[in-house]
Amino acid sequence: MGFLKSPVQWATDPWGKVVPIHIAWFLIWVSAIAGLLFLMVHAIYVRYFARPRQFSEVPAPPASAIPAHVPRHSLVARLFHWIMALAMLTLLVTAFLPKVGFQFPWVTYHWIAGLVLTVSVLFHIFHASFWLDFWSIWPDRVDLDDAYHRVLRFVGRDAPLPKKFAKYPLENKLYHGAIIAAGGSAIVTGIFMMFRVRTALFPRNPYLFSDMTWGLMYVLHGLAGVGLIALVTVHIYFAIRPEKLPITKSMILGWMSRDFYLEEHDPRRWIVRPAGRSPNSAQTEA
Ligand code: HEM
Repeated sequence: MGFLKSPVQWATDPWGKVVPIHIAWFLIWVSAIAGLLFLMVHAIYVRYFARPRQFSEVPAPPASAIPAHVPRHSLVARLFHWIMALAMLTLLVTAFLPKVGFQFPWVTYHWIAGLVLTVSVLFHIFHASFWLDFWSIWPDRVDLDDAYHRVLRFVGRDAPLPKKFAKYPLENKLYHGAIIAAGGSAIVTGIFMMFRVRTALFPRNPYLFSDMTWGLMYVLHGLAGVGLIALVTVHIYFAIRPEKLPITKSMILGWMSRDFYLEEHDPRRWIVRPAGRSPNSAQTEA
């Protein structure tokens, strides 16, 4: 198997021990190409092969029970999303452009964006735990049953139609889980890696860990980082797909239309306040 390149770069420490130092940077291209392949296959599948989506019937609530503008993301939640997005894009650009040939002094911009991401994620965890509906983003029993039924129907077997979604479809919940894994790993390792570079915040201490531990930390940071290339690519792709634009718009304006809500969501699984209350009064559901 000698023709396979190692995904990790190795070096010899002063005591002659071989230690990992980074991921191999060709993984940048592996991740970017995987992300692009996914979106090409998905776009072709949806355009030429997918059948129209079907859901099981839901008893329609009286129109007056649902506001014309269904509140989806509070202002605070939207601000978090866009600050985090900006930090994430800055992190990707500062980390990977120098590795593919565009040299600039990236480290300071990178750790500053890293701190912005860290603080905004800590805030998000606090906000989601006490103000938002914390459980709305985790898969529940209905999601899993429906996923099973969707797979059966995909392979041509008989199965009940899936239910309409709660606030978030299973795919979004799984994506959120992948972002927690990759983003969380990059954040935890990134904070420790700040001890390796000169920052104005605390004294540099490259002797905090052994060479082996540092190496593994850089490798985990790099793996999480390249994973985020594909994850962010796929996220932006879905955000600009025509049928998803109402969802993207709701991340800007905070609400989605009643029609879109009733088309995709089950009012029993995602309960919104009746019309007549201001959008912000229903934010605790968001
Ligand atoms: C979430 C997206 C992130 C991506 C894509 C990313 C990517 C990278 C990459 C590829 C490297 C080079 C690693 C190596 O040389 O092996 C790096 C280094 C580094 N990153 Fe990140 N990172 C992210 C988040 C963070 C965060 C949240 C922080 C801090 C809180 C951070 C702080 C650092 C530091 C201090 C270095 C070390 C620079 C050096 O030793 O020269 N990163 N990052």
